[in-house]
Amino acid sequence: MKVEILSGKTIILGVTGGIAAFKAAEICSYLVKSGAIVHVVMTEHATHFVGPTTFRGLTGNAVITGLWDEPREYEITHVSLPDKADLMLIAPATANIIGKIASGIADDMLSTMVMATKAPVLIAPAMNCKMWENPIVSANVARLESLGYILVNPGKGRLACGTEGVGRLAEPATIVRKVIDRLSLKQDLAGISLMVTAGPTQEPIDPVRFIMNHSSGKMGYAIAKAAADRGAGVILVSGPTSLAPPANVETIKVQTAAQMLDAVMSHLPEVQVVIGAAAVADYTPKSPAASKMKKMGAEFSLELMPTTDIMAEVGKSKGDRILVGFAAETENLIENAKKKLSAKNLDLIVANDVSKPGIGFGSDVNEVTIIDENGQETLPRVPKIQVANSILDHVKGLLKI
Ligand code: PMT
Repeated sequence: MKVEILSGKTIILGVTGGIAAFKAAEICSYLVKSGAIVHVVMTEHATHFVGPTTFRGLTGNAVITGLWDEPREYEITHVSLPDKADLMLIAPATANIIGKIASGIADDMLSTMVMATKAPVLIAPAMNCKMWENPIVSANVARLESLGYILVNPGKGRLACGTEGVGRLAEPATIVRKVIDRLSLKQDLAGISLMVTAGPTQEPIDPVRFIMNHSSGKMGYAIAKAAADRGAGVILVSGPTSLAPPANVETIKVQTAAQMLDAVMSHLPEVQVVIGAAAVADYTPKSPAASKMKKMGAEFSLELMPTTDIMAEVGKSKGDRILVGFAAETENLIENAKKKLSAKNLDLIVANDVSKPGIGFGSDVNEVTIIDENGQETLPRVPKIQVANSILDHVKGLLKI
């Protein structure tokens, strides 16, 4: 039975050397029956577990097993096939291929193709549970995820080596579902350039102390990721956070409100949309000490001066841009947010009540009201990535695309 989203799509299925390699045949068969054009690339180790003939029979295409295979249909296989691919899937993926990709090693056809493709790459690991728990494997998996590779995590159960634990290849149906989900992702912001600010700013008091707030950057990073996933060109201007920058996003790291202002204003001509999710300091020490301040016996006062309001400054040079601000409030949420909407010349403001426990600063979820001049929409408590996509839906409406 054809599956519309898979029909006519070119998928490279990478198979590496593990006992679960036989399950790749089931995945391959499903993709082909659903209408996808599947090219199988096997590592040399994989061919010891399952024969290339199986995959040739299932796909009707030659199976690529070595870097030095004679190119057939494609001129330079390691470049032309990845160029043509809508998606790459590696199932099963061993600790070895995960380590190679995470380290930028391209010493066989599969790892070379991964390096050469711009298509999304899904990785479905399968290995012994102790290998899966190894901190080196965990670090490599985390690195791949931070670079935008999509992991289909292994399941728990009885492993081929006789032990019980996490390491079994995810069920073929789960893997195929992920393929369909990724191919279904809308690219409705393709061609749009967007800048988002995220995180706190740090305002130095002396070389070792600073004023900061509780922003983790999660909200702004979620917007950057969601926009990039939907095809926008994204510049992320980030204050200090512990988050890994999302894949396919130009990230500019800053420390102070003044540096954030400089970064935003210098990139403003390049973008059509600006979203201010950063918690920018409103005040900064007037004269930060050049060397570490000594402990004072008595009370002392720190003289502060106002920072420039970045979104208000952007509002003055608005042009045709769509501007979105956030309002972090602890009282009179809607009323205060509306004041900021007009004072900063914004199109939208996202109001969050940061006095509510469990949302706002540092949390993985948020509860917001999105306000424009025509009305407002209150979202339930949902993950920040969902909040991000709702904001982007509103932005898309304002862009009239
Ligand atoms: O980072 P997280 O831990 O995920 O937390 C998310 C968040 C709570 C920081 C986020 O949801 C949020 O509310 N961000 C805005 C925080 C804030 O500074 O709000 P504000 O009401 O003080 O400022 C209003 C708007 O002006 C904001 O868009 C802000 O970025 C902008 N601003 C403020 C001061 C300043 N000097 N320059 C600005 O651009």
